Amino acid sequence: MLGGRRRRALCLAALLAFGLTACDGGDDQGERDDRTERTGGEDSGAAESAADTQPSAVAGPDRALFAEGRDVFRRCAACHNATARQNKVGPHLVGLFGRAAGAVEGFRYSDAMRRADIVWDEETLRAYLRDPRGYIPGNRMAFPGIRREDDLDALIAYLRAVTTPD
Ligand code: HEC
Repeated sequence: MLGGRRRRALCLAALLAFGLTACDGGDDQGERDDRTERTGGEDSGAAESAADTQPSAVAGPDRALFAEGRDVFRRCAACHNATARQNKVGPHLVGLFGRAAGAVEGFRYSDAMRRADIVWDEETLRAYLRDPRGYIPGNRMAFPGIRREDDLDALIAYLRAVTTPD
């Protein structure tokens, strides 16, 4: 038997990997149709049966993912503000998606970060947060990296939600 948490994680992983919305609460019908067309029926069958057997665990996946991401962000919060434009040990993360690396005014970045020719998006953040020193050698963020893919998924979903200004 899979535990509820694991099953939910699988469902979320399917959601993220394939854009499947079988575990969706049902808010964005338009998007769902597009995604279903693109991904075809084969995968969605599996996700649907998971949803059928465990309705409570998959209700509101966005909220569950957000909550998990918020937990993961505790590892960052000592050094980063995600919602206010105030730097701590690290630069604030407001407006992170679409922002160039090393671009916060008034923050003293390492040369490595200032010179990195990177725009932060889901892909570049994933690579950086998985292995900060490997991705930008010489950068000064004292953080070893996040190895678990589901933690990264949740963190990135959380960051996208909270760092994007209204
Ligand atoms: C011990 C403090 C510390 C922790 C913990 C930490 N960071 Fe950082 N972070 C920094 C510093 C310092 C920099 C700037 C690095 C440089 O200039 O080389 C940075 C840079 C960044 C950048 C690049 C920002 C930009 O403006 O280009 C991102 C994104 C980031 N961190 C996200 C995170 C996330 C997400 C976590 C948690 C998983 C995290 N950091 C954990 C200190 C930290």
